[in-house]
Amino acid sequence: MSIINSFSFKDGEVTHRSRFLRSDTFKANMSENRIVVSEMGTMAYPDPSKNFIFKAITFLNHTVPDFTDNGASNIIKYGDDYYATSETNYIRKIDPVTLETQDKVDYMKYLPVNLASSHPHYDKEGNAYNVGTSIADKAKTKYMLFKVPAVAEKVSDKSKFVPALKNVEVACTVPCRSLLTPSYYHSFGMTDNYFIFIEQPLKLDILKMATAYMRGVNWATCLKFCPEENTLIHLIDRKTGKLVETKYHTETMIVYHHVNAFEDDGHVVFDVIAYKDNSLYDMFYLNKLKENPGFHDDAYCKPSYRRFAIPCLRQGHCSWRGPGEAQIHNSQCCKRERRQTDVPVRGTLSRF
Ligand SMILES: [Fe+2]
Repeated sequence: MSIINSFSFKDGEVTHRSRFLRSDTFKANMSENRIVVSEMGTMAYPDPSKNFIFKAITFLNHTVPDFTDNGASNIIKYGDDYYATSETNYIRKIDPVTLETQDKVDYMKYLPVNLASSHPHYDKEGNAYNVGTSIADKAKTKYMLFKVPAVAEKVSDKSKFVPALKNVEVACTVPCRSLLTPSYYHSFGMTDNYFIFIEQPLKLDILKMATAYMRGVNWATCLKFCPEENTLIHLIDRKTGKLVETKYHTETMIVYHHVNAFEDDGHVVFDVIAYKDNSLYDMFYLNKLKENPGFHDDAYCKPSYRRFAIPCLRQGHCSWRGPGEAQIHNSQCCKRERRQTDVPVRGTLSRF
């Protein structure tokens, strides 16, 4: 379940509020007193006491899964609206003061994305930028970077809710390496002039997802780690919406969170928390937590903080200024930040 907390500061006092997100998932689970909506790590199965027809209908409903609206990952702002979000196509509007749950909004009504990141970026004007995945739409799977303008559309009928998403603009599409196994991502990077999108070798196996219910497994098991594949780094020019022609790749790594991104001395510099594999995911299963509540287990991959500096000229294309491969830690632009944070810099970039 998703629980929202807020802290308000006024006249030297702090007020704390806390409410469950009253999502459709919350209501359905509470009314049945069990989990009846599937989540990433928990597949919901029909009550064993129900009859065959009920079970058959439940099975058919899950053949094309409808995702949860249990926004337990983050709060995002589109226009003047605040939403609780996870990474599905549903977000739930909330009142930022009372934390009351309001309208349910489906990305797919405004943009053909089945999944979307829960970590958008904002510019100085308050425009929001996010990325989603459009799966097998018109026989193509692609990643879509999109902009939700800060200024919401004025409506004459004030009682009618018009989500800021109605004015969404596609900033760029990035073709996926494969039709049925798009990369999983949890965040992306943004500088003044570029989006940074990492196409990593942790993938969603769409065929496995479609058959997960039938096979009795949860959707998290449909994440496929492909250690034999490298990690592609896409740069997108925000002004033109075009992919920078040069593609960069680095060693196999799994990234959930981008930490920072900026431009300096002709480079796009970005920091991520990286893992060598996806064993981190396994750590959060209840049986594992019960076995090992302190997370003291060397079996799980430890995170490392990595900085990448991509040589890039502004004129809409990248210019590789070194030989075929370059050590990132040689990049001059990292010197100042390295002094400040003592960041260990590792990894190599090479021309694709
Ligand atoms: Fe996150």
